[in-house]
Amino acid sequence: MSKLNIGIILGSTRQGRVSPQVGEWVKEVADKRGDANYEIVDIADYKLPLLGEADATEQATKWNSKLASLDGFVFIVQEYNHSITGALKNAIDYARDAWNNKAAGFVSYGSVGGARAVEHLRGILGEVSVADVRIHAALSLYTDFENGNVFKPADLHLTNVNGMLDQVIAWSGALKTIRS
Ligand SMILES: Cc1cc2nc3c(=O)[nH]c(=O)nc-3n(C[C@H](O)[C@H](O)[C@H](O)COP(=O)(O)O)c2cc1C
Repeated sequence: MSKLNIGIILGSTRQGRVSPQVGEWVKEVADKRGDANYEIVDIADYKLPLLGEADATEQATKWNSKLASLDGFVFIVQEYNHSITGALKNAIDYARDAWNNKAAGFVSYGSVGGARAVEHLRGILGEVSVADVRIHAALSLYTDFENGNVFKPADLHLTNVNGMLDQVIAWSGALKTIRS
């Protein structure tokens, strides 16, 4: 069986964001496992306007093609006002079939580990038929970042990142069998 394709989706797009640092760290941990093709998917690259505000056929096609090429997802989730970013919600809204019957795990950050944002995201993903795994790496803005912007993760998070990836790989493989 060929390797699964897993997208590591950066949920923030603002200038000065820390999500690329977190995403690169997750990719480094994931690549060492050798069990899937992992790639960073940066929502910012797709330049999606707010849904319905402008003709975005080209951007939407490119975004849907990328999602369609993936078997599962790891969302890098940052907490904005106790939820996910508007950019991530908008990007989710831009696709439907390309999300369906796939699995997702989460690496989040915030003052309480981004936990509130992940709980919202789990509810949203249910509506696009993405199966969310239980194990979740929750990073603290206080202890896993210096000055809130230089990422220095504590080693203890490796256990949850690998546990989450174990589940994402198992479920992504299982769900692939029900997609045509
Ligand atoms: C608009 C906004 C709202 C925020 N609200 C919260 C919040 O409710 N809870 C929290 O823990 N952090 C909150 N933060 C802090 C962010 O989690 C922190 O700035 C983080 O680095 C943002 O991720 P990013 O750098 O990838 O954009 C907020 C930040 C912004 C910009």
